[in-house]
Amino acid sequence: MGLRVALAYNLKRKIDDAGLPDDYYSEFDSKETIEAIASGLRSGGNEVFLVEADKGMLNWFQSNKVDIVFNIAEGMNGESREAQVPAVLDFLGIPYSGSGVLALSISLNKALTKKLFEQAGIPTPKYRLITDPSDISDSGLRYPLIVKPNREGSGKGITITSVVRNRAELTREVEKTSRVYRQEILVEEFIEGKELTVGIIGNYPPAALPILEIDFSNCRASGEFFYTWKVKEFEKEVEDSKGLSPLWHCPARLTDRETALIRDTAIKAFNILGCVDLSRVDIMLDKKGVPYVLEVNPLPGLDPVDSNFPFIGKRAGFDYPALMNRILETAIERHTKNGNLVLQERSFR
Ligand SMILES: Nc1ncnc2c1ncn2[C@@H]1O[C@H](COP(=O)(O)OP(=O)(O)O)[C@@H](O)[C@H]1O
Ligand SMILES: [Mg+2]
Repeated sequence: MGLRVALAYNLKRKIDDAGLPDDYYSEFDSKETIEAIASGLRSGGNEVFLVEADKGMLNWFQSNKVDIVFNIAEGMNGESREAQVPAVLDFLGIPYSGSGVLALSISLNKALTKKLFEQAGIPTPKYRLITDPSDISDSGLRYPLIVKPNREGSGKGITITSVVRNRAELTREVEKTSRVYRQEILVEEFIEGKELTVGIIGNYPPAALPILEIDFSNCRASGEFFYTWKVKEFEKEVEDSKGLSPLWHCPARLTDRETALIRDTAIKAFNILGCVDLSRVDIMLDKKGVPYVLEVNPLPGLDPVDSNFPFIGKRAGFDYPALMNRILETAIERHTKNGNLVLQERSFR
């Protein structure tokens, strides 16, 4: 192939300010992840340039010519953070991997995503969006509920106390979450059942990879019974005795019918947001067999050791470098017209 590929990223840093929450940089990528992706893409014959998605990025792209950008940048701040790199690249006319401005902006906003799901008949937990913490409504919702920041990822703001069982706990949790994360708060019915996540790759049509089930039955020692920030952050680093290492079953322990339903639901969710190339869709399968979609992650974590997506890729037959090259290929294919690699607009399905 031999393309000039820029890898656009935000680097995970050490917390340098006592006022910041522990999860402040959790959406960003480690040096090891960035190096692993770069090395994977180099093994595909490409020349790879590392570009930190900070204020210097605009200048870098104007002074250096690349064929395509492999985008993993989660962005710095504001409601547009995940869409900032794609917006700059659209502006400059440079092709890039992964979803565009609209899909990334909508998917970062969990409540807005859920509205689209409801309209499309995709099951999603009942919810309320709280924009004023002094005016908390739980009307029409059935406890237990889960309280989360509306526009975060990587389990940011999600702890064991996020699940609330009465009005007093709800009030306390909404106030706390809104103080720390300074954004609107999503309150959702907590679905008991199987936690599943579906990796999707490709475009014509997108294909669902084997479903991953996250099984918390061995996490009793920690009391963490769902995918909290703490579990996401520490699961591959601590010994089992701490109870922070849920089991990963891939393919998930599901009947063929359930598998088909979950994959179909995940693809519908991917399409309704206008995602392209890759995503990971989080689903809770309740005891009655309803697949409730929690969210779509168009920028799924690509840490070679502890992210879900590369693990799923391995089960589908792609080792890490092969998966990185597959993602790049899907983007190249999408941006190629008459043999030329040129930025293409996405079309909604
Ligand atoms: N409505 C819900 N019912 C059950 N579990 C939930 C619900 N919402 C979130 N969770 C749990 O919290 C985790 C993180 O929630 P999610 O909405 O996916 O946020 P993030 O963007 O941080 O991944 C989920 O993977 C799941 O374990
Ligand atoms: Mg999630």
